[in-house]
Amino acid sequence: MMGIGELKLFIWISSALSLACISIGFTPVDNYLIDCGSPTDTSIGNRVFVSDSSNSQFLKTSQSILANATVSSSIVSPLYQTARILNGVSYYNFPIQRHGRHWIRLYFYPFVYKSYDMRTANFSVSTQDFVLLSNFQIKNDSLMKEFSVNITSDSLALAFTPSDHSFAFLNALEVVSVPDNLIVDDANQINPLKSYQGLLVQALETVWRINMGTLAVSAQNDTLGRTWITDEAFLRNKNLAIPITKIGAVKYSNDTVTRDIAPDTVYGTCRRMNSSGDPNSNFNVTWEFNVDPGFEYLIRLHFCDIVSNAANQLIFNVYINSLIAVQGLELSTLTFNILGVPVYRDFVTGLSSSSKIVVSIGPDTSTGSYPDGILNGLEIMKMNNSKGSLDGDVSAALFPSSGSSKKVGVLVGAILGVVIVLAAIALFLMSRRRRLARKQHSKTWIPFSTSGGGNSLSMGSKSSNGTATSVISNLEYRFPFVALQEATNNFDESWVIGVGGFGKVYRGVLGDGTKVAVKRGNPLSQQGLAEFQTEIQMLSQFRHRHLVSLIGYCDERKEMILVYEYMENGTLKGHLYGSGLPSLSWKQRLEICIGAARGLHYLHTGSVKPIIHRDVKSANILLDENLMAKVADFGLSKTGPEIDKTHVSTAVKGSFGYLDPEYFRRQQLTEKSDVYSFGVVLFEVLCARPVIDPSLPREKVNLAEWALNHQKRGLLEQIIDPNLVGKIRLASLRKFGEIAEKCLSEYGVDRPTMGDVLWNLEYALQLQESVIQNEPDEDSINQIGDVSPLISNVNPVDDTVTAEKVRGSSVGDLSDVSISKVFSQLIKSEGR
Ligand SMILES: *[C@@H]1O[C@H](CO)[C@@H](O)[C@H](O)[C@H]1NC(C)=O
Ligand SMILES: *[C@@H]1O[C@H](CO)[C@@H](O)[C@H](O)[C@H]1NC(C)=O
Ligand SMILES: *[C@@H]1O[C@H](CO)[C@@H](O)[C@H](O)[C@H]1NC(C)=O
Ligand SMILES: *[C@@H]1O[C@H](CO)[C@@H](O)[C@H](O)[C@H]1NC(C)=O
Ligand SMILES: *[C@@H]1O[C@H](CO)[C@@H](O)[C@H](O)[C@H]1NC(C)=O
Ligand SMILES: *[C@@H]1O[C@H](CO)[C@@H](O)[C@H](O)[C@H]1NC(C)=O
Ligand SMILES: *[C@@H]1O[C@H](CO)[C@@H](O)[C@H](O)[C@H]1NC(C)=O
Ligand SMILES: *[C@@H]1O[C@H](CO)[C@@H](O)[C@H](O)[C@H]1NC(C)=O
Ligand SMILES: *[C@@H]1O[C@H](CO)[C@@H](O)[C@H](O)[C@H]1NC(C)=O
Repeated sequence: MMGIGELKLFIWISSALSLACISIGFTPVDNYLIDCGSPTDTSIGNRVFVSDSSNSQFLKTSQSILANATVSSSIVSPLYQTARILNGVSYYNFPIQRHGRHWIRLYFYPFVYKSYDMRTANFSVSTQDFVLLSNFQIKNDSLMKEFSVNITSDSLALAFTPSDHSFAFLNALEVVSVPDNLIVDDANQINPLKSYQGLLVQALETVWRINMGTLAVSAQNDTLGRTWITDEAFLRNKNLAIPITKIGAVKYSNDTVTRDIAPDTVYGTCRRMNSSGDPNSNFNVTWEFNVDPGFEYLIRLHFCDIVSNAANQLIFNVYINSLIAVQGLELSTLTFNILGVPVYRDFVTGLSSSSKIVVSIGPDTSTGSYPDGILNGLEIMKMNNSKGSLDGDVSAALFPSSGSSKKVGVLVGAILGVVIVLAAIALFLMSRRRRLARKQHSKTWIPFSTSGGGNSLSMGSKSSNGTATSVISNLEYRFPFVALQEATNNFDESWVIGVGGFGKVYRGVLGDGTKVAVKRGNPLSQQGLAEFQTEIQMLSQFRHRHLVSLIGYCDERKEMILVYEYMENGTLKGHLYGSGLPSLSWKQRLEICIGAARGLHYLHTGSVKPIIHRDVKSANILLDENLMAKVADFGLSKTGPEIDKTHVSTAVKGSFGYLDPEYFRRQQLTEKSDVYSFGVVLFEVLCARPVIDPSLPREKVNLAEWALNHQKRGLLEQIIDPNLVGKIRLASLRKFGEIAEKCLSEYGVDRPTMGDVLWNLEYALQLQESVIQNEPDEDSINQIGDVSPLISNVNPVDDTVTAEKVRGSSVGDLSDVSISKVFSQLIKSEGR
């Protein structure tokens, strides 16, 4: 949305000049300068923009591409020579050491790189609390967007969300502390003129920053890295005003108005009314600025009387949008009769329906003073709207907030990672299965053991615990590339069953007839490699009937291909909404939840160190031909939480709408983050709607928030999937709502373990089943006491859950450990 109301700042770089004019004064505590996509650090004056390739701890993306402009560095700033192209939701995450206002400066310069024409990129940028850019497109030239946001949490996440079928890009980025006194709480509201409070919490976008007169100020010459452009192009009638320059006259006299408010070059230059010596002159000097309608604006006017002498008196009126803003402004009375002392005045406009802001100065005829007037500088800053947006009528509530009254804005880079829509099943190649099964008897089974030789993909180098360090080299699971080419009809596009940030998923048939799902990573994605390795590591270490099985992989020719068992019925999400598949019954849904909970419980407890999935969502729960649930997509998994503390920075990862607010706030990963996400899945299963639906009214946009609100008021039944109305026993619904609510507790410590969730879901299933069998018309939860024994009541033939329980501690499957724990828990509960 290029065009009106944007401050176009062409960054002009001259190292010689900037070295001569090093900023003095304010030292920002947080000072992140990033040159995106650049292989090396870039110095701009005395500021060093670090490469985000060598220093990628801030960037989290499912897929990004480093792009290289072909333009010579004499034409554009070195900052603009490289870009990072972001496919899929990505984010930069910065620890914030000092709460308060920060600049967020985004640098864009669209160029064409390979098949990416950045002029067609269309994307949104947001922080946890505010939407900065929405469906943003930049057609021409370089552009810097400057925002200032008061950050009151310990980190700032900047999410880049491509619009449908598009991508995002960024050339450089700044997140820098701003002095506290730059934006104060109070201002003057015009229309009607009165005082205004509340600027401290506002997010602001600099739309125009003007130095009246003939001198521009570059970022290098401003203590806060601001760029000031000249006003000539904005004057309605150039002849009515004279530019004045008298920089030496400026006297910063106290701590309120310092060089950080505006530099000498701003206060020491102005436009003055051109009365040509005629004491009867009566006209206004007027500037016009294009702005986006539909927002309020903060207008800051800078004055400094560099024109008066003892003989004349400078008194004038100031108008904003033709309304009087200051009547009879007499600068010397504001500055204790000292000339050359800078002052500024802040004004807040009402909601503007016009696409212009008009600022005028003119004589105050009521005083009979000589017609005169000046303006030294002007800033127009867009204020966030009531939805927390600075661009368009979109809502910052896109990001989940916790159930409590304190709004915890959470956005996070979500890895749209992997919408694996697996379809039709496979009759598994029996021999391969048996082989796998044999190996499962060993509790420390690692298929990619350190034995074999050959081309090996080194693994576990990032892992600080010995157990995970293994080397993939077992040729048995390593597929030759040609075999996978054959299996997928040479990666036939019409065989694609899913596309995600990591790459595409193809259906395939191996030489022996086994149906498989083949996930082919994009080799350009560095992030992809880490996820590829994690996924192999996780899936080869952990085998469970409720975790999707990895059949093999291929790392030939820099390929990153994973081969999985084929899941006939696709994703849980696909069965809930949006795909037209027949609706699942409540019992089926409960069983699916139980299966998924079982898979997660196993991950959390099945080995010495808990494994945290980190991307639990309905699209990552796959269903086999019997609708048995299997958890998929371990690309983001981590061992936690101990191992995490050893890492300097833990990137917040996950998917929109599912992300644990506590994890986001504290950056500390525990199993309880999966529990939170699972709670969201539970509500998704009950309500059969997307977790984030921006098309809905604000209170409904975020499923977790909305459902929790109904649950807490005992109104959950009002929002259930219409297909379930009249089909859920009240007791079962109550139990289910209670579980989901607990999962979504604000603090991890208050959330149940997956084991508890599992047991409670089983209980909810019992409440549904048994009551129906025994007392079809009785809804009371008191009935439950009569239901005995829990397990034998369910038909083992059609109930996978029970089947597993009945098997009890059967084969030497790792999962037995966790299963039997749950089993004993069940037994204990029964005994109450
Ligand atoms: C950018 O282009 C230059 C010359 O065209 C090349 O030497 C350099 O390797 C490229 N860098 C990247 C990151 O592609
Ligand atoms: C930021 O906002 C908080 C209120 O949320 C306020 O107390 C604080 O003073 C603000 N800080 C700055 C520098 O504006
Ligand atoms: C960007 O994408 C959105 C959503 O796909 C679309 O509505 C909008 O028109 C696009 N913007 C531009 C400038 O094309
Ligand atoms: C882009 O530049 C071309 C020519 O340089 C101009 O005609 C066009 O209006 C510009 N578009 C925008 C959106 O600024
Ligand atoms: C910085 O300001 C000095 C004078 O104050 C001026 O000579 C110089 O050109 C300016 N540099 C830039 C990069 O604007
Ligand atoms: C000031 O006004 C006079 C008379 O209208 C005009 O001749 C002169 O050019 C103006 N000066 C400027 C700097 O525009
Ligand atoms: C200056 O502008 C204001 C607001 O538009 C208007 O009320 C006033 O009459 C103007 N003065 C002159 C001399 O044009
Ligand atoms: C600082 O100076 C400005 C301009 O003279 C004045 O308006 C303001 O009240 C002064 N502040 C303090 C704290 O003295
Ligand atoms: C901007 O956002 C803040 C914090 O969310 C909110 O308090 C304020 O009311 C919003 N501004 C407007 C003009 O609605």
